[in-house]
Amino acid sequence: MDWDAFFAVHRDLPREGPGLAEDVAWVGGLIGISPQGQVCDAGCGPGGDLAALRQLVPQGRIDGFETVPHFVEAARKRFAGDPSVRIVGESMEGLSGPYDLIWSAGAVYFLGVAGALNTWRAALSDQGAVAFSHPCLFTDTPSEAALAFWEAEPGGIETEQTTRDEIAAVGWRVLAARPLSDAAWAAYYEPMMARCDALEAAGVSEAVAAAIAAARKEASDWRAVAHETGYMLYVVRPA
Ligand SMILES: C[S@@+](CC[C@H](N)C(=O)[O-])C[C@H]1O[C@@H](n2cnc3c(N)ncnc32)[C@H](O)[C@@H]1O
Repeated sequence: MDWDAFFAVHRDLPREGPGLAEDVAWVGGLIGISPQGQVCDAGCGPGGDLAALRQLVPQGRIDGFETVPHFVEAARKRFAGDPSVRIVGESMEGLSGPYDLIWSAGAVYFLGVAGALNTWRAALSDQGAVAFSHPCLFTDTPSEAALAFWEAEPGGIETEQTTRDEIAAVGWRVLAARPLSDAAWAAYYEPMMARCDALEAAGVSEAVAAAIAAARKEASDWRAVAHETGYMLYVVRPA
């Protein structure tokens, strides 16, 4: 992987994975978070969910953790005037909390479900919850194309049941789960495709052209397999 070329595409985008403000709002309503609540956005990327999280806790505080420097910079820029939103350029493995909500959109697979939940348990407040979106097969008989869609990602692709089993095995319970919508995926891919168009129009190196081709292929592959696989959003608490 040519990371410079990859990050030429993955830069100046509103978000780095599928998701919508309404997903954040659904979680907030479900767990009944207080407006004074303390929230962590673990693997916040460029901060695509911070505004929706801020709406959940207008008198509270948000810590975003992210390890890619230009995502840290982008997220900080978005909330430069808000002292209650702090973006920490460190690993989400080191959370101390206590948090009423640890939100993690598309980042838990870097630690593994069991690894993330084990690591974050001590960083939750008494009534705290973790909400995370995670790759999921919606069928027990996936096509090769659906399996291939996740080939480059760390960890194996799971069904909702295998993820629920993994959650239960480390002593947590699922409060609710729902799949991310097609609109959530469009919120990720549409700006990325627009960035690819803009980069191409300006002229790119061979390496960046290859990264653009990979991004276009990913978006088109997703459309082909969206009925078989996607992201599931899980809301969980220690049992
Ligand atoms: C698929 S992106 C999602 C970003 C963001 N949550 C969003 O939805 O736009 C996953 C993010 O997790 C970050 N990440 C991976 N491992 C991490 C770690 N150990 N600590 C903090 N962030 C991490 C990546 O750099 C990346 O920005």
